[in-house]
Amino acid sequence: MLWVCTVIFVLVMGFLLYAVFRPRPQGQTVTAPQTERRTARAVVAAVVITGLVLFVFLVADFWTDRALAALSTSQPLKIKVTGHQWWWDVEYEATVPSQMVTTANELHIPVGRPVLLELTSHDVIHSFWVPNLHGKKDLIPGYVTTLWIQADQPGVFRGQCAEFCGHQHAHMALLVIAEPPEAFAAWREAQQHPAGAPSDALQQRGQEVFLSSACVLCHTIRGTPAGAKAAPDLTHLASRQMLAAGTLYNTPGHLAGWIVDAQQLKPGNKMPPNSLTGSDLQALLAYLTSLK
Ligand code: CUA
Repeated sequence: MLWVCTVIFVLVMGFLLYAVFRPRPQGQTVTAPQTERRTARAVVAAVVITGLVLFVFLVADFWTDRALAALSTSQPLKIKVTGHQWWWDVEYEATVPSQMVTTANELHIPVGRPVLLELTSHDVIHSFWVPNLHGKKDLIPGYVTTLWIQADQPGVFRGQCAEFCGHQHAHMALLVIAEPPEAFAAWREAQQHPAGAPSDALQQRGQEVFLSSACVLCHTIRGTPAGAKAAPDLTHLASRQMLAAGTLYNTPGHLAGWIVDAQQLKPGNKMPPNSLTGSDLQALLAYLTSLK
């Protein structure tokens, strides 16, 4: 659709520029009959071509819709996505509780398998939109909507909240990472585990900083006493590509800036500033970046 429309746009602009700048015979007010016939033929041809192109789009649209409707199977991968101002809570459902996975702002899906998203919201209306996978679907507080997606090839597909939901609506993005089934299974396996224990004294100190500061009031790190649900689950924070719902790449520098003064980076979000001493911050970073 993009390329067809691009070609048409360029052609239309070309004809328009030609019409504007073509040399005109001076003093001639009546169009010759053969010129008029040629113009009429050109207009009819343009209308017919437009109709044909739109018809082809209609058929393509119809087939795409049919393919999307045919995704519903009895054994889909079910993922619950809850919108928050301004991040995405992601839960992989499982019949066995120990196989459930909670993460944030990043969905992994296996290529070629239908995925059923169960969408809801914690606060205001948001809208889930990953243009490469499906259209938009609203996330409504107190109500669950569903959306089927399937990735036919591996890749990273960016999604964006598509319903104005407050100050940081624009910074409410997510990534859908489609990977081969084996890679997906390995990822899911790894995410099921609680966070690893600190492996050195610095990380140990970092964990103490985390557990003794305001972090625990909002965040969960499974395997530690931190179990609050008001903010993204950090159990495997270091495995994610982005921070703050697609706002920043997940680097130690960004993470440090985010911890110290998140309001500077994403004004209005719920993360308060944290004044830590330099050594405490370094220890906390060492711990958080170890949470692969
Ligand atoms: Cu959430 Cu816009």
